[in-house]
Amino acid sequence: MAEDLTIIKGTKEEQYQALIPQIKGLLEGETDLIANLANICGALKEQFNWFWVGFYLVKNGELVLAPFQGPVACTRIRKGRGVCGSSWEQAKTLIVPDVEKFPGHIACSSLSKSEIVVPMFHKGEVVGVLDVDSDQLDSFDTTDQKYLEEILRFLSY
Ligand code: SME
Repeated sequence: MAEDLTIIKGTKEEQYQALIPQIKGLLEGETDLIANLANICGALKEQFNWFWVGFYLVKNGELVLAPFQGPVACTRIRKGRGVCGSSWEQAKTLIVPDVEKFPGHIACSSLSKSEIVVPMFHKGEVVGVLDVDSDQLDSFDTTDQKYLEEILRFLSY
């Protein structure tokens, strides 16, 4: 397993294309979910330097904070609440260009301006979400959606 990431400059597409095989390498041969989620956060944070990158996992009917990189965050989110709870309820990726315009957005930090939340699936059920926050407006698009969804498909449970 490679323990150092090669960080590249370039377009978003180029950055993901360089990062994805490295994330695959990090996950290969490791079956522990928490270890893998932790390394995904570390790799994404290191390449993109987003404000906050982290996971929430479904536990007893709520989303509970799991591995993340960035400032401390709210620990529990109910289904349908905020961007994370909405992504869980709708079982789809949500891209929010301006969090202030998302009804019910949960502001863990006032510095967060835009957000993407990608659900993790296991046997057709949402088992958690990946949440990425930026301190800039309109940071995320369908390129992020495509590659972040691909990264989550590498996970085994
Ligand atoms: N903003 C999220 C809550 C999680 S934090 O941003 C880390 C939401 O509305 O679901």
